[in-house]
Amino acid sequence: MSGRIIGISGPTVSIDLPGLKLYERVVVGHARLMGEVVRLEQERAIVQVYESTRGLGVGEPVAGTGTQLTVRLGPGLLGTMFDGLQRPLEAMRQSQGPFIQPGGAYSLSGNAQVLRFLPARKAGDEAQAGECLGFVEEGPFRHAVLAPGAGRILSIVDGEFAGDEAIACLEDGGRVFAHHEWPVRLPRPYRRKLSRFEPLVTGQRCIDFLFPLARGGSAIFPGGFGTGKTLLEQSIAKFAEVDIVVYVGCGERGNEMAEMLDDFSTLADPWSGRPLMSRTIVVVNTSNMPVAAREASIYTAVTMAEYYRDMGYNVLLLADSLSRWAEALREISSALEEMPGEEGYPTYLGSRMAEFFARAGVVETLDGRTGSLTLLLSISPPGGDFTEPVTQACMRNTGAFFMLDTTLAHRRHFPAINWFQSFSLYEQEVAAHFDQSLGAGWSALRNKTRALLQREESLREVAEIVGTEGLQDADRLLMRTAENIRRHFLAQNAYTDDAFSTPAQTFEKIRGMVEAHEDASRRLAKGGGACA
Ligand SMILES: Nc1ncnc2c1ncn2[C@@H]1O[C@H](COP(=O)(O)OP(=O)(O)OP(=O)(O)O)[C@@H](O)[C@H]1O
Ligand SMILES: [Mg+2]
Repeated sequence: MSGRIIGISGPTVSIDLPGLKLYERVVVGHARLMGEVVRLEQERAIVQVYESTRGLGVGEPVAGTGTQLTVRLGPGLLGTMFDGLQRPLEAMRQSQGPFIQPGGAYSLSGNAQVLRFLPARKAGDEAQAGECLGFVEEGPFRHAVLAPGAGRILSIVDGEFAGDEAIACLEDGGRVFAHHEWPVRLPRPYRRKLSRFEPLVTGQRCIDFLFPLARGGSAIFPGGFGTGKTLLEQSIAKFAEVDIVVYVGCGERGNEMAEMLDDFSTLADPWSGRPLMSRTIVVVNTSNMPVAAREASIYTAVTMAEYYRDMGYNVLLLADSLSRWAEALREISSALEEMPGEEGYPTYLGSRMAEFFARAGVVETLDGRTGSLTLLLSISPPGGDFTEPVTQACMRNTGAFFMLDTTLAHRRHFPAINWFQSFSLYEQEVAAHFDQSLGAGWSALRNKTRALLQREESLREVAEIVGTEGLQDADRLLMRTAENIRRHFLAQNAYTDDAFSTPAQTFEKIRGMVEAHEDASRRLAKGGGACA
């Protein structure tokens, strides 16, 4: 069935096509732009268009597709850079030049490539829905191919096959492929969520030691302009101890993404030694790309991340920045003339964010493995005001909060994580884990470090009045130790070898500092003088 465009307002288009469903994918105009139905009224439907609507005219044809916005899941995702609609950018550059042509159809690399399949079942076996039929190899990663429904296997591939051929045929006529489509707004199914929190090592001492992140958890780090959000995201994408990283550049600068890709193509994963890009998927939706596609890029990325989680991998999704998605929601909402909520954001901002955060977790997958999806999201509050709606909406859902402090950034203390205002709900579980793996003492050291930093803060106020000379020797010693901790432990220069620290290195470093302080304090108390 086809209809016509009856009105255009920025990225939203009204059409007169009857019989559509909410969130159905629609092809808009002669350029065949991709859009999604976001509102249905009696005589018209409103579509948000994920590509630039420049040049689109009233009266141009529109057609429904009968499907929702989907992503294609299968081998070929890793090491690839996509736009928000999962179009592989490198392949498009080779065929169409450096600028994305509107309405371009996408094809996932690996579709027709020769792949290897290792069957786990054989012809004649009865397969249950969701059961693993075998594995497709993609470098070091194995894609489990799950039976879409119950049935007897008539034939199954063993060895090489072309990526677009069926891997198995079932008795009821069903065919199983290495690739399948999944609607992005629908969370992928799992057996159950597990409440197990193992540490996710980021390589950043301040995070790992003071505000640790857990696999399957979520963290936000809001920070004003230039507080180091992008650099922190990229450092963690490089060094995090996970199997797969999905990085979304959402509405941020294009040159930063280009620099990151250059960097990533030369580096190795510090945990496996393999090229970093071989574990990374990049979704690019920079500030000069259509606003509505920011929403698509977030959903596309999280669905790809869930796909790898379902294979039993530990996946980390990083997005820079969530505020740009919220701004896109606001823009679309105002084009739809919806009743605005706080600061013009739609009233459903909170529930939309909550739904998104709920996609994180440690799960038991349909075929009994354990996989995790962790979210690490930057937020750019305008004017560095953390009471604004996006930060607040995310704070209600997140498990860890790293507050990036403008004053610290001005002092060139990076990562500029404020150690008094940040928190992590995973602290106890993660500390218990490190107490076990590194020998007892992690939690005790953390408490001592916190106390030192806290005491320094109160002494600093006194020192401002009486000067450091007016302080007692023990207090001067404490201030020197705390400064040492701040400068050489909490701060990490992303451009040096110090950018990454293993938990053992972190532990040794802080233990050395705290023990030296205790030693000097003891000697001072005995009257021997501190030589710290
Ligand atoms: N860990 C770090 N080590 C050294 N320098 C850093 C570090 N983090 C940030 N910087 C410095 O701060 C600058 C700004 O960082 P970045 O671009 O990550 O900030 P941002 O918060 O993403 O900014 P914006 O709000 O503009 O997106 C960097 O160019 C770099 O000079
Ligand atoms: Mg940035």
